[in-house]
Amino acid sequence: MTVADEFDWDALRDAAVEVSRRAYAPYSHYPVGAAGMADDGRVLVGCNVENAAYGVVLCAECGMVSSLHATGGGRLTRVVCVNGVGDVIMPCGRCRQLLWEHGGADLQLMTATGVRRMADVLPDAFGPEDLEAVHGD
Ligand code: THU
Repeated sequence: MTVADEFDWDALRDAAVEVSRRAYAPYSHYPVGAAGMADDGRVLVGCNVENAAYGVVLCAECGMVSSLHATGGGRLTRVVCVNGVGDVIMPCGRCRQLLWEHGGADLQLMTATGVRRMADVLPDAFGPEDLEAVHGD
């Protein structure tokens, strides 16, 4: 489902492009920038950080989510990710799960085909409610 609104996506995308230039991606040579808006209007950014032990890579979304909490917490409402040439990219599977945790079903994600809800790009997601259903907390 496509979501239309008046939000200034270009500005958020610009923030993602800017932070992508600070990526540490000497192994893949594939810089990524992520920018998100929190429910209080804060803009959070992150870039990918790779490692000589390849599997230790931190995706750009990880840095953005860390920044969300490091600067006061809250929920992500809108997110856009770009590669090193400024194209909008889809978050990897793991990072969709990360975005689900911190934005939920209604988080709006900019994609190459327009703005989509997380519930659309991560259908039937596992989430905190699944734990609460068993643990009751
Ligand atoms: N990458 C991200 O930062 N986010 C994604 O959602 C997709 C992949 C990074 C990880 C790695 O540094 C590089 O892109 C190539 O996979």
